[in-house]
Amino acid sequence: MSRHLISAADLSLADAMAILDTAEELAHLAERPIPKLPTLRGRTVVNLFYEDSTRTRISFEAAAKRLSADVINFSAKGSSVAKGESLKDTALTLQAMGADAVVIRHGASGAPHRLADWVRGSVINAGDGTHEHPTQALLDAFTIRRRLGRLGGLRVAIVGDIVHSRVARSNVWLLRTLGASVTVVGPPTLLPLAVGSWPCEVSYNLSAVLPDCDVVMMLRVQQERLTDAYFPSIREYSRRYGLDADRVRLLPDHAIVMHPGPMNRGVEIAAAVADSARSTVVEQVTNGVAVRMAVLYLLLGGQPAERAQPAQPQAQALEPASSGAAR
Ligand code: NCD
Repeated sequence: MSRHLISAADLSLADAMAILDTAEELAHLAERPIPKLPTLRGRTVVNLFYEDSTRTRISFEAAAKRLSADVINFSAKGSSVAKGESLKDTALTLQAMGADAVVIRHGASGAPHRLADWVRGSVINAGDGTHEHPTQALLDAFTIRRRLGRLGGLRVAIVGDIVHSRVARSNVWLLRTLGASVTVVGPPTLLPLAVGSWPCEVSYNLSAVLPDCDVVMMLRVQQERLTDAYFPSIREYSRRYGLDADRVRLLPDHAIVMHPGPMNRGVEIAAAVADSARSTVVEQVTNGVAVRMAVLYLLLGGQPAERAQPAQPQAQALEPASSGAAR
């Protein structure tokens, strides 16, 4: 595995399995009275968030703290970014402070890739524009495997605003690597032009796809990224692409319903569906912490990042699932 996690498309099957298996071990930690490991003691993880976030930022913070890292939370609002400071100068500041890992969320696709040229620590993409959100795809895969017992051979539908969704992109690539088959579903205006080159099927008809699904993943319409009229009205969108109680009956009994959040209840998913036994929405959030711990552990846990004064390696309280996967 490389030093950075920028794209789910870069993960080999062995890398992805190492992360999921390590997360499985780490998930048991949460059941202990003190859910903490000393693995990253003396390491610094910076959360660099240029876009709003609830789940992802809190999840990375909890993950780093459970591994005993020092965490610095940086949000663009209230920082010198508001005074026009560039990403490069912000990166150099973080570098000067000795960040071992930078978790970045940015509105520009490709920002984490640029950042990786400027800092010596690991860069973890927590969502860049409409490009990728690899840890979300990993926590989704982890959740599917826990609920359904496997990933290989499963049929997954990803439904909604695909064109603006970094969650959809990361999931299409990761699920393909893990042996599942994906169908993206939405109105033609919300599917990217390049979808033909993605490793998935395409459908415009949600009701026709549901009877063959093991997993249906609903996505929010990203109003903040809509620059045009992509569909006649929210009501019309919801009628054709929303998952309501009637449509859920088309799913096989074992099928699960996922959503990365934030949900627009009553638009892409009915409240009764979001709160039903099929829904994994809350589990996805819980699982996100274990998966992000696994990513931090595998990227940082083995060796100290290249620093002028490397921290003393800590006693490892947990062996990596695959010792070759740390680098
Ligand atoms: C997603 C994101 O930010 O890309 N949310 C998340 O990370 N859980 C999806 C969204 O904003 O709709």
